Parts: sequence; structure tokens; C-alpha cells
Amino acid sequence: MKAKQIHRMTAIILGLFIISHLIVHLFALGGISAHLKALGTVQWIYRNPVGESVLVLAIAAQLISGWKRLKAKKRSPNKWAKAQVYSGLYLMFFLIIHTGAAIATHTVFGLETDFYWAAGSMNISPIKFVFWPYYFLAITAVFVHFACALHFAWPGRFKAFRNIMPIIGALIALTIILTFTGLFYDVPITEDVLNYYRKNFGILGVE
Ligand code: HEM
Repeated sequence: MKAKQIHRMTAIILGLFIISHLIVHLFALGGISAHLKALGTVQWIYRNPVGESVLVLAIAAQLISGWKRLKAKKRSPNKWAKAQVYSGLYLMFFLIIHTGAAIATHTVFGLETDFYWAAGSMNISPIKFVFWPYYFLAITAVFVHFACALHFAWPGRFKAFRNIMPIIGALIALTIILTFTGLFYDVPITEDVLNYYRKNFGILGVE
């Protein structure tokens, strides 16, 4: 099978996960317990050896096939190809770090990867200044990457939707980050979460 076909097939699995993942995070607008409840309703799909293996394998296949596709596209002067390459590169970086961190945190460090874990990264100084752009770029890159896929799969169609997608992504990113940073209600940092960030990010100045 060609890298292009593998990339498209695994994008469906990953795409479904990402859509449900972002919807879960938007539930935080309704409060912490709304987020925890929403997370609980999707976790049964990937929080088991089979589901998690399928997700991790889909991510690995997506990264490897994406890397091959990237090499073919990186010299193209076309602005959509450039946007696809740069958003793809950032998503590779983000997916490796974020998926690795989530899995290692709940399996190795024994800390639940829930609202409090994510909120800790966006509220604790000074690491919050790194995590804000880290998450903002990730969500925006997903939408840019999808807009590019639409452009190449159906040239000339869905133009208005395709062009507005990066803006929708940026707005969703901003909404999630502002919610997790406590714009709408108080976001407590639990002792366990603080200790986790002290232990893993002490070198960056978390006290
Ligand atoms: C502000 C944005 C985001 C936040 C706050 C966030 C938060 C989280 C949390 C709390 C988990 C743990 C879930 C669980 O244990 O059930 C997680 C896992 C994960 N997230 Fe995100 N995430 C964000 C954006 C993204 C994006 C944009 C992607 C994909 C491009 C992504 C991909 C993943 C993956 C693959 C996992 C691992 C699931 C597993 O196997 O446990 N996340 N994230």
C-alpha cells in the first residue's frame, strides 16, 4: 500500500479521535465536572489495551506515512503544499510528545490524565507560557492540515469552508485554553498535579 493511502486511512481513525477529544475539551465550558463526565464517556473506547493499541498504531502509521509524503511535497512552491508541510511537521512533534506524555503519566507516574492534569500545564508558572502556544498551535495545525487535505482532494470545491477552517481552529483553541486557564471559573491545582509538574518540570523553574 502507498504512503498516501495509509495516510488517508489512518487519518480517519485519528480524525474521529481528535474530533471527540476537542468536543470533550469544549465541555469544560460547562464546568470541571462536565468535562470529567464527557471524558468518561469516550475513555472506554481507547482506555483499554485494544483501543489504545489501535490509536497508537494509527498515530505511528500516520507519522511514518506523513514523513514520506512530506519529503515529496517540501519543495513545492504552492502555498497549500507549504501549509500542509508546516502544519504536518508541528503535528508530528505534538503527537509524539503529547501522546507519550499522556500515556506515560497515567501508566508510569500513576497520575490520572484528566481535566486537572491538563489544567496544571496551563496554569502553573512558568511552564504555562510554553503550554499555551503548544496547545494553540496544535489545534490550529489540525484545522490547517485538514483544510489542505480538502484542497488537494477536491480542488476548487468547498472553498469558503476550507478557507475559514484555520480561523475556526484558532477560535476553538482559544476557547479551550481560556477555559482551562480559569477565565470562566476557578481552576484548582491539586497537590498531586503540582507535585507531578514540580518533579517533571522543576528544571524549567516550577517550584
Ligand atoms: C488544549 C488542547 C488539548 C488538551 C487540553 C488535551 C488534553 C488531553 C488529556 C487530558 C489527555 C488524556 C486523556 C485520557 O486520559 O483519557 C489527552 C490525551 C491525548 N491527546 Fe490531547 N489534548 C489537547 C489537544 C490534543 C490534540 C490537538 C491532539 C491531536 C492532534 C491530541 C491527541 C491526544 C492523544 C493521541 C492522546 C492520548 C490518548 C491515550 O491513548 O491515552 N490532543 N489529551
